Amino acid sequence: MNAIHPLSNASEPDLMECLSVQHDRLNAAMEDTPKHQWRNQYHPDLSPMAWHYAHCHFIEAVWLHERVLGRSPLARRDWHDLYIPELSPKWRRGGRLPPPEELLDWGRACQTRHLDLLRDAPGVRSHPLLAQDYLTGFLAQHHAMHLESLEQVRWFARLRRPATLDTHTPDPCTYSPEEWIEHPGGEAVVGSEAITAFDNERAAHRVRLEPHAVCARPVTNAEMLAFIEAGGYRPGPHWDTGGATWLQKTGVAAPLGWHSLPDGTRVQTLPDGTRPLDPHAPVVGISWFEASAYARWRGARLPHEHEWEQARRGGHLRGAGQAWEWCGNTFHPYPGFRPYPYEEYSKPWFDNQHYVLRGGSTWSDPLLKRPAMRNFFTPEKRHVFAGVRLARKL
Ligand SMILES: [Fe+2]
Repeated sequence: MNAIHPLSNASEPDLMECLSVQHDRLNAAMEDTPKHQWRNQYHPDLSPMAWHYAHCHFIEAVWLHERVLGRSPLARRDWHDLYIPELSPKWRRGGRLPPPEELLDWGRACQTRHLDLLRDAPGVRSHPLLAQDYLTGFLAQHHAMHLESLEQVRWFARLRRPATLDTHTPDPCTYSPEEWIEHPGGEAVVGSEAITAFDNERAAHRVRLEPHAVCARPVTNAEMLAFIEAGGYRPGPHWDTGGATWLQKTGVAAPLGWHSLPDGTRVQTLPDGTRPLDPHAPVVGISWFEASAYARWRGARLPHEHEWEQARRGGHLRGAGQAWEWCGNTFHPYPGFRPYPYEEYSKPWFDNQHYVLRGGSTWSDPLLKRPAMRNFFTPEKRHVFAGVRLARKL
């Protein structure tokens, strides 16, 4: 394969500043949450909020003290068993967490110590993991992803309570027609060499695209409502075998968070409140099965992630970054993939069970909304702030 120029459109962000911003956001997220909710587990896939907070700081300590400085673990041994996900079953996490005040004090102390270490400690700046602030950016993005998980926890906490309509309604989205961006096919460059790129985004490489069209904007709530009203959630040929089985098992009949008030008004609960459904906003809260069934019902399909990235780089995608967009293909290694900074970051998920999502959501940090960023989840997940954009063959 030929060497390809780095695909970084913008200058790199100040990664120390990015990490410091994530620290502030972590503190603010906890301070804004009533303490009695900190240890609650609202969904089998979602750890308690306090666990996410502690895990972020613990992971920083492990990378800096153990991996970079080669010191023996500073933290208590039993914290490894609690804060390393592989060692800690989700359902057991809540009851083992320290009290809120202790946790917040410890987190703040970690933040100060770690930023000082990253700024000028001997043996840190010169470590290969800190070249171009790689590790700093890796940690900032790690925290940004956990902060999005915190919003998912907030969503489920709110879904548990009876819905009361918010008095404040933000400006509704404006209508945007369904336009198609046609691509004649041919060579495209995907992936990234930027310092912030994860191992699964590397290397930038050329791919061949077939002639295709991608919709200029994501599928809206109004379009999803039309699907519901036409019986789209009933079994039919638009559900593939996996989707039909999932539909039968779950009895799902609308995107996550949609419900009707006694007077028939359709409302939507999101992490920050419950409001009448905005017809022109991108749909959010659907699984890959629902995204695929909707696309098939429309005589379309999901975009391949390369098609999505090509359109995004061309500046053609409206509404990207409001809901993660399910792609038609599973998560796979790019040519020449090398695991970094550790073996298990991406590799275990190249299992043909995880589908790629692109673009980021309203609840994602801007750090994660780059064209090459690849997210990945199994097809039944509905809590990941995901929606759908249509594509079709030309
Ligand atoms: Fe993590």
